[in-house]
Order: sequence, then C-alpha cells, then structure tokens
Amino acid sequence: MAVFPALFGFFLLAVVKGQVVDITPREAVRRVGDELIVQCKVPYPIDSCRMTVGPNSYRLLPTNQDEEVVYSGNGLQFGECGGLIKHVREEWNGNISCVVPPQSGSIELTATMQLTVARPPLQPLLITDTHQSSFKEGDYFMAQCVVPSGRPAAKVTWYLDDEPLLEGIHQAVIRPEPGSDLKTISQNLSRTLSADDNGKRLICRAEHEALDGPKDVARQLVVEYPPKRMEAGQITIFGLKIGEEGRLNVTVRANPAPTASWTVGDLVVSPRPAADDAAVVALEPEHLGGGYYNVTLILQRVAKEDVDRTYYLRVSNELGQEEFAVRLSTMDEPAARKANSSYLIDVYGVELGSGAIAGIVVAVLILLIAVSLIVFAKATDRWCFGGRSHRTDIPDGADSEAPLPPHDDIKGSENPTHDHGEYISNGNTKHPEKKPDTAV
Ligand SMILES: *[C@@H]1O[C@H](CO)[C@@H](O)[C@H](O)[C@H]1NC(C)=O
Ligand SMILES: *[C@@H]1O[C@H](CO)[C@@H](O)[C@H](O)[C@H]1NC(C)=O
Ligand SMILES: *[C@@H]1O[C@H](CO)[C@@H](O)[C@H](O)[C@H]1NC(C)=O
Ligand SMILES: *[C@@H]1O[C@H](CO)[C@@H](O)[C@H](O)[C@H]1NC(C)=O
Repeated sequence: MAVFPALFGFFLLAVVKGQVVDITPREAVRRVGDELIVQCKVPYPIDSCRMTVGPNSYRLLPTNQDEEVVYSGNGLQFGECGGLIKHVREEWNGNISCVVPPQSGSIELTATMQLTVARPPLQPLLITDTHQSSFKEGDYFMAQCVVPSGRPAAKVTWYLDDEPLLEGIHQAVIRPEPGSDLKTISQNLSRTLSADDNGKRLICRAEHEALDGPKDVARQLVVEYPPKRMEAGQITIFGLKIGEEGRLNVTVRANPAPTASWTVGDLVVSPRPAADDAAVVALEPEHLGGGYYNVTLILQRVAKEDVDRTYYLRVSNELGQEEFAVRLSTMDEPAARKANSSYLIDVYGVELGSGAIAGIVVAVLILLIAVSLIVFAKATDRWCFGGRSHRTDIPDGADSEAPLPPHDDIKGSENPTHDHGEYISNGNTKHPEKKPDTAV
C-alpha cells in the first residue's frame, strides 16, 4: 500500500532534481575588496536573473554593468545567470544565492554558495607548560601554538630552523569563538629533545588568506648534555714522528662548554695561558660548532717512551664527565679505519699498477690455452675424452654421469694426468662398481 506514495514521492523528487540550479563555486574565500564571480546555470533559456548578496537582492541585466554587483555570463538565452561582485565587503560574509525563473510553474529556483570574507588572525602564540629556559637531552618537550580569531581558521606549520617538523605534531583543534564567526586554531607539538636540537629555533608559522606573508612565533631551544665520546674504547693517534711535535686531538661533544685535563704519567696538565715553553701543553677545548669540541694536547717533541705511554683525558662540564685513554702510534692510520670509498679508490686507482696488469694478462693467457686444449682434446678424442666416449658406450651406470658433462670436461682437461684419480674418487663415493670401467 505504501509503495505507491513512495514511488510518487521518488518521481516528484526526480522532477524537482531536474530543475536544480548549478552554481559554481560552491564556496570561496576572498579578502575585503577582492572580486568574485558566481555562476549559475539552468538548461533552458531564462528572461530574468537575480542574486542576493548580503542583505540585498540585485537584479542582474546583461546591459547594465554599472552597479557593484553586475551580470556575468554568455546571456540569459543560454540559461546563464552569473554575478560579478566587483569589491567584496566585510558584511557579505555568508551565503550568496542566485534566483532564476522556473521552466514551468511559478516558484523561482535558487542555488546558494558560501562566501568567506577572510579576516586575518591575531598574532600567533607559542605556549610551553614549563618556564625553564634550558632542557636536558632526552627531556620530553611539549609546546602549543595558538592562532586566534581568524576567518577562516589559520593554517599552522612547524619548523626547526628551516627544516619542516613532521613528527610529534598533534591533531589541530579549531574552535569557533563564541558570539562571532571567527575561529581559533591550536596545535600541540611533542618532542624528545636531542643534542642536535640545541641552539635551534622552534618556529610555529601561521598562514592565512588575509595575511600578505606568514607570521612566525619562535623559541630558541637550549639542550644541555654531559660530554660524550664520538668513538668507543681507546683512541689511537696515528702518524706521529719521533723528535717532532705531536698533537693528540680528541673530538668530544658537550653543552655547556667542557673543560679538559690530561694525565701524563704523574703529571696533570690543564690548559693555562703562557705555558708555551712547557714540554707538554694542553689547549683549551676548541668549539667546532654544533657542540663538538676539539680537545688537544701538544707534545713539543715526541720521545720514544711517549709511544709506550697511555695518556688519560678527562673532559667535564656541569652535567658530568667522560674519560678517554689515548695512545700514540708512529704508524700511518691503518686502511681498515678509512671509509669504504677510499678503499675502492685504492683498488681501482692505485693497485692496478704494472704488476696487476701483467697478472691479469697471464691469467687470460692461461685461460685461453686451457680452452683451446679442451677444444683440441674434444675434437681429436684424446685423453679423458677418449676414455669417456668409450665408457659411455657401456649401457649400465653411465647415465648417472651424463647430466654433468661440462664438470667432467673441465676436470679432465685441467689435470689430464690426475684424470684416473678423479674418476676413482668420484666413483668411490657414488658407484663403487664403476671403478673397473674408469680405470681401463
Ligand atoms: C547558508 O546556506 C546553507 C545551505 O546552503 C544553509 O544551511 C544556511 O543556513 C545558510 N546560512 C544563512 C546565514 O542563511
Ligand atoms: C595540547 O596541550 C595543552 C596544554 O599543553 C593541553 O591542555 C591540550 O589538551 C593538548 N591538546 C591536544 C590535542 O593534545
Ligand atoms: C684530529 O684532527 C684531525 C684533523 O682535523 C681529524 O681528522 C681527526 O679525526 C682528529 N682525531 C680525533 C681522534 O678526533
Ligand atoms: C683539532 O686540533 C688539532 C691540533 O690543534 C688540529 O691539528 C686539528 O686540525 C683540529 N681539528 C679540527 C677539526 O679542527
């Protein structure tokens, strides 16, 4: 029973749907003063066209182009009812509708689009729950960026200096402001601080249609950590020469700046000014950037017993200390310590000297001789090939060897005199009964 009304309703909906006005764009963001064109279209000729913008309803005539909102389109006869809004006004934020006559009947058709008149947000804020000015490596850091009162909501992105930050970015939250159509966006960032973060600027960047450029709010990160070694175990300084000046340098990473002291036998050597004439001089740790320091001890003249010694270095700052054992070597740095790439260069650039080339030529010659011997032996049924063809004539037991002729060929040709031994040893493991055959 209910099927008929339902079907009728569906039919009616289809008819009404056929009369729907096509509007583009469906939404737009414009600044105050910008231009906006809204196009409406129906599939039949029309004789009038209206557009409601804000509180006003404009009658659009293709011949009248003098008003603030004027006709735009190819003509009413093509069913086009478009409006050109020459200068968007603040109070026009909201719906814009076009109104066209129906194809039949007397109820006018309308279509609506949403105009957002952009309003720049207020200055972005970067909020951290702690007020501490510096952090320790490994600390969990949380910041919130708030960009208030934009229309539409601003877009927020994060940077660490120039690098876009993608990890630890939480979902942005957009909240409407009570009593207005402005929106506030906030986004959280969480991060476990690393030594590399020290000195970097954490930037929250707000971008918005109504801003000529992005607005940044930034905070400098200070991350402190105790001295860290760059390589594990004992350090060996290579390439020192007996009787010449020796420089023992160790690279450490620390923040704040570390102090260094060396122990040479019973002697403790610390950096101090005007100690140039001493036999052993410690230099102040030299900052290489990024928290890396070059810590150096200078031996004015390297003596033979210096090479047998272990030098101890202690590097410390407010957060802790690290100790190093350093040894000297008069040898050059072993090749194994070098990078793979330099090893390859050694192989291709240096090792291919005259000796290597001669070796390659000899190897190629031996190979050529071996190949021609095989061909010759095969062609003339000599040596093992003769024996083999004889053996394969015997019907039983021979088929198991047949699938591997190249293997046999090479063995036979390389060492023709050991030929029997090879076959016997092969035969012993697999087919002991073949021994008499091959021995013939
Ligand atoms: C704007 O149009 C939408 C439908 O397109 C409607 O839901 C909304 O209520 C309208 N807003 C105003 C302020 O008229
Ligand atoms: C963002 O951080 C603030 C305070 O730090 C907190 O109150 C809020 O719940 C966080 N929001 C999200 C989405 O994590
Ligand atoms: C010592 O300095 C040289 C030159 O800068 C560097 O190549 C070497 O790695 C340093 N040695 C250590 C142990 O840091
Ligand atoms: C570290 O100091 C030593 C000795 O002063 C020097 O030879 C070396 O080049 C320095 N290394 C760097 C990377 O500056």
